Amino acid sequence: MFKKFFMKKRALNHYLVTSSHSTSVIAEQYRTIRTNIEYTAIDKDIKSILVTSASPGEGKSTTSANLAIIFAQQGKKILLIDTDLRKPTIHKKFCVHNQIGLSNVLTKKQAIEDAIMDTSIKNLSILTSGPIPPNPAELLISKAMENLLGKLYKEFDVVILDTPPVLAVADAQILSKHADGVILVVASGQTETEQGKKAKQLLVSSNATILGVVLNNKKQEKNDYYYYYGNDDKAI
Ligand SMILES: Nc1ncnc2c1ncn2[C@@H]1O[C@H](COP(=O)(O)OP(=O)(O)O)[C@@H](O)[C@H]1O
Ligand SMILES: [Mg+2]
Repeated sequence: MFKKFFMKKRALNHYLVTSSHSTSVIAEQYRTIRTNIEYTAIDKDIKSILVTSASPGEGKSTTSANLAIIFAQQGKKILLIDTDLRKPTIHKKFCVHNQIGLSNVLTKKQAIEDAIMDTSIKNLSILTSGPIPPNPAELLISKAMENLLGKLYKEFDVVILDTPPVLAVADAQILSKHADGVILVVASGQTETEQGKKAKQLLVSSNATILGVVLNNKKQEKNDYYYYYGNDDKAI
């Protein structure tokens, strides 16, 4: 079993609404995404989900963190990995340090057991990026990464990979070979249609299975009649 790195309840970034406001409309929408993923992959056990987008700032890390929380709330053992070794943010979203993480493990400076952290959310562990290395793509393409993921897929029910943008670097494409499915995040009013299409093409050309597209940052219209309907205690 993995070592518990910190046990005290941590303040979570307020954009992790699925944790702070589990009965909110937004949390409900993340639950819908979870259900859709499960239905999309009805004949296949999805153990690993890669989250990416065309460009920076479109909501990859926000989406992966909230999805990880929503899956963990279902009682599954979840690991969220920050594979963005260039601009990592998962440690910021969970308000933890980033001295030890994926990069240290891949360069054999740290054992995986010491790098995985528990969070204040039941069933959710995270592996932050670790210090930014000079050669991110080399580390992600390495046999060490493949072996590590293989080991983690056995240990956890679902592993979620937060990645860099597809159009900027090849990292997400490289990693998609090791993921059962990919979620492509599109930012409303931000992602250019052509960029979204190009990102999809690059992933498809790497034989990635695209599970679906998440539309992030959609402005709620006055006429949108969204509300949470159901028993608050059973909001998962
Ligand atoms: N739906 C949203 N509503 C409000 N802020 C958001 C939303 N999605 C992302 N953000 C904010 O936008 C910024 C970029 O999001 P992030 O998830 O880090 O993007 P990426 O990982 O694609 O670079 C962050 O400050 C994040 O908190
Ligand atoms: Mg990010």
